[in-house]
Amino acid sequence: MTASSGKRVLLIIGGGIAAYKVLELIRRLRECGHFVRAVMTRAAQEFITKLSVESLTGNRVYDDLFSPTEESGMGHIELSRDADLIVVAPATADLLAKMAHGLAGDLATTLLLATDKKILAAPAMNLRMWLHPATRRNMARLQEDGVIFTGPEAGEMACGEYGPGRMSEPLTILAAIEARLAEDTRLPLAPEFAGQSRVLAGRRVIVTSGPTHEPIDPVRYIANRSSGRQGHAIASVAAAAGADTVLISGPVTLADPAQVQTRHVETACEMLEAVEAALPADIFIGVAAVADWRVAAVTHQKIKKEKGREFSLTLTENPDILACVGKRLENRPALVVGFAAESEDILARAAAKLTQKNCDMILANDVGESSQVFGGQKNEVLVLTRKDQESWPPLDKEMVARRLILRLSALLAERGE
Ligand code: CTP
Repeated sequence: MTASSGKRVLLIIGGGIAAYKVLELIRRLRECGHFVRAVMTRAAQEFITKLSVESLTGNRVYDDLFSPTEESGMGHIELSRDADLIVVAPATADLLAKMAHGLAGDLATTLLLATDKKILAAPAMNLRMWLHPATRRNMARLQEDGVIFTGPEAGEMACGEYGPGRMSEPLTILAAIEARLAEDTRLPLAPEFAGQSRVLAGRRVIVTSGPTHEPIDPVRYIANRSSGRQGHAIASVAAAAGADTVLISGPVTLADPAQVQTRHVETACEMLEAVEAALPADIFIGVAAVADWRVAAVTHQKIKKEKGREFSLTLTENPDILACVGKRLENRPALVVGFAAESEDILARAAAKLTQKNCDMILANDVGESSQVFGGQKNEVLVLTRKDQESWPPLDKEMVARRLILRLSALLAERGE
């Protein structure tokens, strides 16, 4: 996901058995590039340790309202002021009750009362507690107060009962967090578009993202270092801008972005098939690092090594998805956009790709050893169209996505499409 990368999340961990799932949530948030600070209630520390939360967030854990060292370092007001979003997980019946009544007896509840930031809560409790009229009342009050909820889900619970009350899975909570963060950072992205956040309303956009995996045998494959962050960020921003968005993703560890139809594929051939099935569209953006070759003869049995003998694979060329879309005679999207990953002679090579693949725009980036574009957070691109070229400053991948979506909506308007 990611979507809206590089945000600051303040995580309030309540005391419930579901606290163990929060460790996975922290890992996922960090993978998406977010900065995570955690506050733990005393009860939370009965379930997971401060040490594991500190190791995963990379930050100290806050738990004491009356600690002079904490107040002089980062007091509770700063803790909430510093965050883009406050997430409560697991939101226990006790925490929800305290929030609903504005109690502030410890650091977690004081923070929740003292904040003006959005709060997203993932409730988790025994089903009888969840269905109790007191919890129902508290939930209704909190919803009125503007707290957003994800879950709980119905299912088998740690206490052995079955029903609603189980905390949502980390990836579901992550998607809810991304959706919330994306809303906050929605367009407008430039002064000339102020007030026009849904610049792609009524449009359909297809985006490819991530690497492809080309199998060698049942256990091995050829891959590359693409993380999918840039493609996922573009799909997320396109959806936030009102487009009906289809994301065709190779194998990545990111969550599916909110409000995007995500199709998962492994190989280049599957990616091409999924793209063709998703057409027609107004805009196609090929961000995936598609493997240029696949193994000519994939074996169905694991290849065994023979000591001392060299081994070689015969590779055959994969279809070029971007070129296939760009050169379509029927159902060619009005705008076909590609990326060019180059390690030298960037401008000339990107210009050649623009013509050879019959694109309307190419975003070229330097993937030389020192650039850290692949798998990293930032991207520095050179934008080429058939008419002009411009270079963008180093931006995080979400800002590249936002600029791109604005440029494309302007291009469509310019062409009267
Ligand atoms: N692309 C594609 N299908 C392929 C290869 C590339 O759709 N089989 C798309 C990528 O999504 C990207 C653009 O083509 O938008 C350029 O990818 P890049 O790897 O820079 O170039 P290649 O065409 O693969 O050429 P080379 O690796 O020789 O530079």
